Amino acid sequence: MKEKVNQLQKEIEEKLKLCQSKKEVNELKTYYLGKKGPINDLSLMLRELNNEEKREFGKTLNELKQRIISLIEERLTYYEEKELNEKLEKETIDITLPSTKIPIGSPNILEHIIEEVEEVFMSMGYDVVDGPELEEDKYNFELLNIPKGHPARDAQDTFYIEDETILLRSQTSPVQARTMLQAGGDKPIRMICPGKTYRRDADDATHSHQFMQIEGLLVDKNISLSDLKGTFDVIAKKLFGENSKTRFRPSYYQFTEPSVETDISCFACKGEGCSLCKQTGWITVSGAGMVHPNVLRNCGYDPEIWTGFAFGFGAERLAMLKYGIDDIRTFYQTDLREIKAFDRKEG
Ligand code: DAH
Repeated sequence: MKEKVNQLQKEIEEKLKLCQSKKEVNELKTYYLGKKGPINDLSLMLRELNNEEKREFGKTLNELKQRIISLIEERLTYYEEKELNEKLEKETIDITLPSTKIPIGSPNILEHIIEEVEEVFMSMGYDVVDGPELEEDKYNFELLNIPKGHPARDAQDTFYIEDETILLRSQTSPVQARTMLQAGGDKPIRMICPGKTYRRDADDATHSHQFMQIEGLLVDKNISLSDLKGTFDVIAKKLFGENSKTRFRPSYYQFTEPSVETDISCFACKGEGCSLCKQTGWITVSGAGMVHPNVLRNCGYDPEIWTGFAFGFGAERLAMLKYGIDDIRTFYQTDLREIKAFDRKEG
């Protein structure tokens, strides 16, 4: 019996040595330790022994089993480590290789131009304020001297949300009214308000149903059109270069009197005439004027004491001029090639 055990142990040890893989070791394990394996066969023989022999042989058999288990485990661990090392070896990262370039985002070009305008105005003591995009007809039109039924409303094809009282603002000018009403009629005001505006326009190269304006308002005592001209000169020089000249042309807005279109000398041809300025040497950049006495009155300011000027820039127009972009839709589509081109322009 003892001999059989020794023989079996030797046999297993030999076979284990010949194993080439974890799989083969596991096969050995299943066979030798399994129910139909030789160790189990030996333990069946216990039945035929007397008590004394049973105890002795049982112990030997147990020791054999333990020894086999630990030999097999040892082998399995060996193969597991080997496999792991091979895997690690294969998956080693070569840290000297150049890494993949992670694309870094950049601010939208409109954001950029708005910030630029904000900075210039803030340096002149203006506040940057905000207003709701979902607006009341009262602020968008009524208080701005555009009563119901007035033809000036037709020029701004408005998105009405609720029975002619709630709308998507068609201009940032309602923020003028809100600011004056909030100020209470007894304090000077200097503010600009950049923000989204909406009109029922069909989108094309120069129209977008949603676009951005930068509204401006200054209210104080003894303000005249020459203050607007001076302010505008500073803006033009800061945004379009020190040699920029400005001019006013008469215009009409319901909320300003007099009203003007503000032009800057063409920065592409320096005023000589080119395709950008349509051979005129001038480019229109905003509407502006002296705040209409009705508007001042509607918003709690006494026009006998207070005067002011207001203006409205189209942010896309500024950016298109400054960066040579010829289609307003460029700002609102997600074509990465276009965005990358802006990156390059930003240097
Ligand atoms: N809100 C005008 C528009 O959308 C632009 C404008 C013109 C704003 C003159 C003003 C202004 O504040 O004084 O066409």
